[in-house]
Amino acid sequence: MSAQLLPIAEPAEVRRAAWRLIQSDRVAFVVVLLMNCAAAAAGLLGPWLIGLIVSRVQAGAGVAAIDRLGLLVLVAAAAQFVIGRQARYLGYRFGERTAGRLRVQLTDRLMRLPARTVERAGTGDLTARATADAGLVSIVLRDAAPEMMFALVQALIVIVAVVLLSPLLGLVGLVALSAIPLVLRWYLRRARSAYLVQGATNAAVADVLASTAAGARTVEALGLHDRRTTACSTSIAAATAAQLRTLRLRSVFFPTIDISTALAVGAVFGVGGLLYLDHQVSLGTVVAAVLYLRQLSTPIDTILIWVETLQSAIASFARLEGLASQARPTRPRPPATPVDQHILVTDVYYAYDDIDVLEGVSLDVEVGEHLAVVGPSGAGKTTLGRLIAGVDRPRAGSVTVGGVSVADLPPEQLRQHVVLVTQEHHVFADPLRDNLTLAAPHATDDDLFAALRVVRADWVSDLPQGLDTDLSIHRLGGAQAQQVALARVVLANPHTLVLDEATALLDPNAARHTERALAATAEGRTVIAVAHRLHTAHDADRIAVMEHGKVTEIGSHDELAAAETSYAALWRAWTGRPPKPQPPAETGKSD
Ligand SMILES: Nc1ncnc2c1ncn2[C@@H]1O[C@H](COP(=O)(O)OP(=O)(O)OP(=O)(O)O)[C@@H](O)[C@H]1O
Ligand SMILES: [Mg+2]
Repeated sequence: MSAQLLPIAEPAEVRRAAWRLIQSDRVAFVVVLLMNCAAAAAGLLGPWLIGLIVSRVQAGAGVAAIDRLGLLVLVAAAAQFVIGRQARYLGYRFGERTAGRLRVQLTDRLMRLPARTVERAGTGDLTARATADAGLVSIVLRDAAPEMMFALVQALIVIVAVVLLSPLLGLVGLVALSAIPLVLRWYLRRARSAYLVQGATNAAVADVLASTAAGARTVEALGLHDRRTTACSTSIAAATAAQLRTLRLRSVFFPTIDISTALAVGAVFGVGGLLYLDHQVSLGTVVAAVLYLRQLSTPIDTILIWVETLQSAIASFARLEGLASQARPTRPRPPATPVDQHILVTDVYYAYDDIDVLEGVSLDVEVGEHLAVVGPSGAGKTTLGRLIAGVDRPRAGSVTVGGVSVADLPPEQLRQHVVLVTQEHHVFADPLRDNLTLAAPHATDDDLFAALRVVRADWVSDLPQGLDTDLSIHRLGGAQAQQVALARVVLANPHTLVLDEATALLDPNAARHTERALAATAEGRTVIAVAHRLHTAHDADRIAVMEHGKVTEIGSHDELAAAETSYAALWRAWTGRPPKPQPPAETGKSD
């Protein structure tokens, strides 16, 4: 089954989210903005003073006056340096804080993703968002955003200054610079897809090489050398073509930008010279305007260096924001408290990809009852188990415990009612104690040992550091990991257990061991067990047979075996005997 990509936020939503980020630290943002303006304004003083010096020298001013102006130029440069440094420093701090908030928000959203969404998305997309996307956005917030803000403010203020100094020269400069936005647009439109193709073709080369190396024996055995060589050559050719394309784009883009800035300076110089000869502007004004335009090249370079990264970061930010629509609300409406332990499944429908796999399933499970669910593969047993355990929500119908929908219960409350036990359990790379207390945060060591005794985890006494043993160093076997998972269930102490093939992956010896642990865990609880061994079903109080998304038969072993039922046929196939008289299962009783 192919993974479905998680949604990506729309541009409007991205803008709103960015605005919210700024809003939540708005004082700092405004301060940074003002500091940037001050630094840029200080930068304007230098060229203006030099222009003034030129005019004074021309007017025959004395050396002392010129020296004073020269000193002011130095003071202005120092002021620009100090204020600019402070502006950048505050900008970096703002970026760092914002990146931190974004990370916290991301973790929170990931934790609130419904299990079904995570499964459907697959780990690739989620991991990419949580690592590559979050990383890129953080880098941009920390480095690019402060630099770009500084550069943008500087460029804007310089342009405004030239226009104020001499509207005509300002116009000449702007016309000469107008090629930059055009060529930038041209470049960005092509660059994104070109770099994506470059990335994909590079990945393809790595894939082909890795799979050829991994399958070396097969290649040798079947004489596939030529085929693999052709495959490698083809993917390398595609990668080269993609790299040439991006190179061509860069070789048009960067020179055009450089020429535009040089042209602007040259044009203002030329036109300014003519205007000066015509006595329309002073020499000082021309010198100041030219110096201002020279100053533009640094911020323009900064903006161009980062603009691509910024574009990718905006795409990444949209992917991070896409998670928001999938996460459960932080505060769902307060759930009602179940009045008793009664599990009721009423006319439930569930669909994967718009195809119903449960069609009108109803079950009334008595408190303390052991109900086995049997049926052919694909009948919907696992799906039903997940709905009863509140992992998923039915498309129609309801699954309730004590009158409250299980899917509405918050996790910490849900696990006190129903817990799903499958073969997919996870042992965290933490001490054993932490692995257990995650099910019961307030449990004492005595509680933990008691739970471990219930699941017969005798091996605990042999652990080097007891409950403090780090399970990332001391690795547990499959059966031991399952016992840890069961001890968590004992600690959570739910009144109802849903078991789905909890021992299917274990070897027979370990399975027998685990089944005993399971039986001990199940004692005194309501159990709904998907039974893949019919003798387990035989021991249950009732058996529900599922076929094609429906419960087709339900009753005790004796009732079902007595009639011409699917169950009776299954039983015959399983034991090789007619259902009556009742045989004990030859593999031995399990609970
Ligand atoms: N994640 C999924 N995406 C799409 N279809 C699914 C998914 N999981 C299960 N199905 C389909 O839903 C139907 C019911 O599957 P389910 O796993 O509930 O059956 P099951 O009775 O547990 O089978 P088995 O005995 O093999 O475990 C099957 O047709 C299966 O192909
Ligand atoms: Mg199943």
